[in-house]
Amino acid sequence: MTQGQEYFLELNKQSDWVARSLRSVWHPCTQMQHHAQLDNPVPLIPVKSGKGAWLYDHEGRRYLDAISSWWVNLFGHANPRINAALKDQLDTLEHAMLAGFTHEPVIELSEKLSALTGHVLGHSFYASDGASAVEIALKMSFHSWRNNGKSGKQEFVCLKGSYHGETIGALAVTDVALFKDAYGPLLRASQTVMSPDARNARDGETAEDMARKAAADVERLFIERADKIAAIIIEPLVQCATGMAMHDPLYLKLVRDLCDRHSVHLILDEIAVGCGRTGTFFACEQAGVWPDFVCLSKGISGGYLPLSLVMTRDEIYQSFYSDDVTRGFLHSHSYTGNPLACRAALATLQIFEEDHVLAANRLKAARLTAALQPLAQHQRVRNFRQRGMIWAFDAIDATPDFSRRYFATAVEHELLMRPIGCTVYMMPPYILNDEEIDGLAANTLAVFDKVMAG
Ligand SMILES: Cc1ncc(COP(=O)(O)O)c(C=O)c1O
Repeated sequence: MTQGQEYFLELNKQSDWVARSLRSVWHPCTQMQHHAQLDNPVPLIPVKSGKGAWLYDHEGRRYLDAISSWWVNLFGHANPRINAALKDQLDTLEHAMLAGFTHEPVIELSEKLSALTGHVLGHSFYASDGASAVEIALKMSFHSWRNNGKSGKQEFVCLKGSYHGETIGALAVTDVALFKDAYGPLLRASQTVMSPDARNARDGETAEDMARKAAADVERLFIERADKIAAIIIEPLVQCATGMAMHDPLYLKLVRDLCDRHSVHLILDEIAVGCGRTGTFFACEQAGVWPDFVCLSKGISGGYLPLSLVMTRDEIYQSFYSDDVTRGFLHSHSYTGNPLACRAALATLQIFEEDHVLAANRLKAARLTAALQPLAQHQRVRNFRQRGMIWAFDAIDATPDFSRRYFATAVEHELLMRPIGCTVYMMPPYILNDEEIDGLAANTLAVFDKVMAG
């Protein structure tokens, strides 16, 4: 019996949570059989509680949440300040519909977010998950053009390797075969342009060269059919789900200029890269540009509650403003602007301010980058890369089951990590202390060596 099998059986024996879950819960993004098979099983961890950067199972084993529970958790689990805000909000107002009613948390959050963009993106429209925010941005772009007499602008452009969510509309602008192929017949075609991924630079080429090449590809398409294109959607600086593909900020500057010249909206999906993840609150600040729409979710509620939103410019908002109902943006979700979620977001923004989080993260990032140098120099590693609080590297000659084996080995080393294909990445919460940073680096190396040794 392999170590992995023993571990799996032990987990099952310890509690019947795993068995009960397998009988009744259909887990996301999972081939369920992989949890149940005896050969190379993928462990299913029954989490009981969380505190700080750690998750605890029912036996008290702990796991460092090195990927912030799918990139959502910014300031740790059971954060006392977010907890206190939520407890207060629970006793005040848990939910009220947002059509015909408004409330303090949603107003304050919208004002604060607008201020963070220097009031360039003055209105926020709310939903619950990231994919819904993407749907909203796509629909709003199309409808805004239509309200302006340009109903022929119906197409969307996305980047090679892009990921914007898995609902039908969001999947149409996603370019990850694993998620998209099975549903191809259901999806509207979109235009796909080259990714500025700096890893594709040939000898002598820089990341800026890749940005220019990729922008030239956008320009070719815009020259050919900008009259049919409503918007281009981009995940700025890091295309996360395709394997942390990083690009130079110059790309965003060049595409912003092309969008202005060819009358195409720029949608920036900051669902994963927003909220300080790349080093600035909005990733696009590093390029010195603002989009026409920005999508936020994940970290905005500190990883506590489902909340997403789309921010847009006043001229787009104005294009819907009329006494004609059908010119309005007729889109809604039951939990739009949920007060608890908005209050969690306000507490999150307050922590950013009070703790000077962006500056503190620069120090943490420098320490983790230094501690990861043995991996950066490792002979089985290529493309070690980092931006803000995201680290990634690609395993050389990894086996097809590398990701599964890495996850299973990582939990044995008190780590929650899920590589994407052969790309190992870290996106930890922003509250790691020095000991946790050093432990994360040491364990990542130990797990990598073990997995690569087969
Ligand atoms: C860039 C990006 N866009 C959209 C989404 C979809 O968000 P959700 O999973 O909340 O629907 C994700 C999720 O990982 C994402 O990373």
